[in-house]
Amino acid sequence: MDAGLAKTNGDVGTTTTKLGQSPKLMEGGNYILEGMAATESTFLIFSMQEEVGALARALKIFEEEGVNLRHIESRPSQRKADYEFVVECDARNGHLAAAVDRLKPVCNYFQVVSRAHRGSKETVPWYPRRIKDLDRFANQILSYGNELDADHPGFTDKVYRERRQYFADIAYNYRYGEEIPRIDYTAEEIATWGEVFRNLTVLYKKHACAEHNKVFPLLIENCGYREDNIPQLQDVSDFLKDCTGFTLRPVAGLLSSRDFLAGLAFRVFHSTQYIRHPSKPMYTPEPDVCHELLGHAPLFADPNFAQFSQEIGLASLGAPDDYIEKLATCYWFTVEFGVCRQNGELKAYGAGLLSSFGELQHAMSDAPKFLPFQPEKTGVTKYPITEFQPLYYVAESFEDAQQKMIEFAATIPRPFSVRYNPYTQSIETLDSKYQIKELLRTIGNDLKLFSEAYFKMESDHGMM
Ligand SMILES: [Fe+2]
Repeated sequence: MDAGLAKTNGDVGTTTTKLGQSPKLMEGGNYILEGMAATESTFLIFSMQEEVGALARALKIFEEEGVNLRHIESRPSQRKADYEFVVECDARNGHLAAAVDRLKPVCNYFQVVSRAHRGSKETVPWYPRRIKDLDRFANQILSYGNELDADHPGFTDKVYRERRQYFADIAYNYRYGEEIPRIDYTAEEIATWGEVFRNLTVLYKKHACAEHNKVFPLLIENCGYREDNIPQLQDVSDFLKDCTGFTLRPVAGLLSSRDFLAGLAFRVFHSTQYIRHPSKPMYTPEPDVCHELLGHAPLFADPNFAQFSQEIGLASLGAPDDYIEKLATCYWFTVEFGVCRQNGELKAYGAGLLSSFGELQHAMSDAPKFLPFQPEKTGVTKYPITEFQPLYYVAESFEDAQQKMIEFAATIPRPFSVRYNPYTQSIETLDSKYQIKELLRTIGNDLKLFSEAYFKMESDHGMM
């Protein structure tokens, strides 16, 4: 059901966007922006022993070894109280290995970040480090715009395909920090949304989890969730940001599982903006705005669910391919098709259930099988993608599921640990004592604040 989990359909052709930049079909069926491919870049992060003229000396080495640099920046080091440099090298030209050999001896710290990671401690795999890095792979998509499978309800509808192209172009040209363009949805699109909205909302009270039912009235109040109005992604994104820090960004097509999950590490959810074909309002073979806004968005406003989703994303960063598949399968059985137990009853929290009139009723019947959520087992379960699920995994609570995901993540073979820094909206690779010391100091300060607040409450109100 999701951008990150769908398979490529193989039938792809070159398209040109209306808003300027042209997507280019690459070998392997990915559309990318030229010059944006992270696969062709190797990143070096280093701090040098001497400060004065250090960068100039490093640049001279790259020049002498014929290495083209795409990007250079200097910043305060995360590892010591000095500066570090980040250079993005074009790995296709020059003698990068020789440049690395010459630089290393004069550095305090040296790290190679590359897609060609081979499990060594010195090289870490490329993954987005900063939230704006998501711009890089948001354009590495597996299908584009109006490319629909032959059995898609809109396959022969020229007007619908043009509309899909319009939405894809908006997403393709979107960059981090921009407002998501507001859509003037047509009367026909609003009618489709209305039918889905009307039918699903009558089921929520009985079958949706408490968290979904708690947030839904707030979305009606704050984001224009109404039968006669399709909410705007930007409004929903703003609402989620206030609740949990989650944001939405539009996506032009299918992302790979690795890229899609990486977004969750930043509390960013890649969302479609188009709507399903009007001929089949109660069916869609792919995620659409009904699925995203009715199924996903409400849960991302819940702090525990947001944390759980981010854990899956963090676990995916730099994980080997077979673990990416396991994590994507865990995502499928939780964020997409998860069921939880509340007050002794089974309730739906997965977006694939909360956005499907038929499957929600199926999942809440006696027909399917239910098993407890256990990432190591859930992650290797096969599942159908074109019919109702025969098996659902049940979470005891989001906190419990989160704890299990953290334990599972610890079993992923990675020679490094990562942490999300919400202040800088970046991923930190924890690989120095200095970082750990600084983190312990911060946690110590937080603990002091919490105990102070607790004792104030206790003495003011006699609260326990
Ligand atoms: Fe989804």
